[in-house]
Amino acid sequence: MTDKMEWQGQVGTSWARQWQRTDRSFSPLTERLVERILVSDHAGKIADIGCGAGELSIKIADARPDGHVLGLDISADLIAAASERSKGRSNLNFGVADASVWQDPSFIPDLYISRHGVMFFDAPVAAFTNLAASAAANAQMVFSCFRAPAENAWATNIAALVPSAPSGDPHAPGPFAFADPERVKGILSAAGWTDVGFEPVDFDYVAGRGEDPVADALDFFGHIGPAARAIRMLEGEARTAFLGRLRDLAEANLHDGAVRFAAAAWIVTAHKN
Ligand SMILES: C[S@@+](CC[C@H](N)C(=O)[O-])C[C@H]1O[C@@H](n2cnc3c(N)ncnc32)[C@H](O)[C@@H]1O
Repeated sequence: MTDKMEWQGQVGTSWARQWQRTDRSFSPLTERLVERILVSDHAGKIADIGCGAGELSIKIADARPDGHVLGLDISADLIAAASERSKGRSNLNFGVADASVWQDPSFIPDLYISRHGVMFFDAPVAAFTNLAASAAANAQMVFSCFRAPAENAWATNIAALVPSAPSGDPHAPGPFAFADPERVKGILSAAGWTDVGFEPVDFDYVAGRGEDPVADALDFFGHIGPAARAIRMLEGEARTAFLGRLRDLAEANLHDGAVRFAAAAWIVTAHKN
């Protein structure tokens, strides 16, 4: 589970410092997502929900000079990183906001986009209802989210290393909260969205590359995701043993100059009812 408070605090700060690596880990997914967004005939006003450090917002703003993109995120650190790296664009703005309650009468989106930014709402039906209410008639939505943990080796392999990892509520806000398409369809339908579609995308999640890909991956895992959480919780010998197992895992997944893991996502599309 990763809740709003964590994104506003330390988790958001870590992502803001690691955006080059998080962009790299999502890179093949981003390409597919951008293709899907660009076939949309809805340019106009585009809001990127949970935009993080802004890569998707920047790519869409550059590809659609006829549109105006607004990236929204609850983490001030991530919005600062996004604003800094995207300077000089006249059709792109970023703002700190909780998308579940955000409304701006001067910016009525024709299109919502998101790369893995919509699985963290604590009340998803209310949040997507708000997004529908804040959007133009016939607005469109295109977002990505992870499929089941079993299809995401980067997560299951690390979870297997954590001593007595809690199984938890699979629907709690977090990376896998939208893994079940029936649940997502139910949430979106109840929130005023229709024509809900799911495209599966399989990709290589690159965790480490460069001169020493294993060291790069260990540094990445130390800051982002389930390993970082485990490292924070563990002490003494348990911590040392975990770091050793993490190194073994990274070495076992070093192929063609990169530490890589299987990853699986949905690209979800919908229209406002
Ligand atoms: C997994 S990260 C993805 C970030 C970015 N879209 C990317 O692809 O790098 C999830 C993002 O959702 C943001 N987020 C979580 N809850 C939010 C909310 N209620 N409103 C706005 N942003 C939220 C987090 O701060 C975080 O940046």
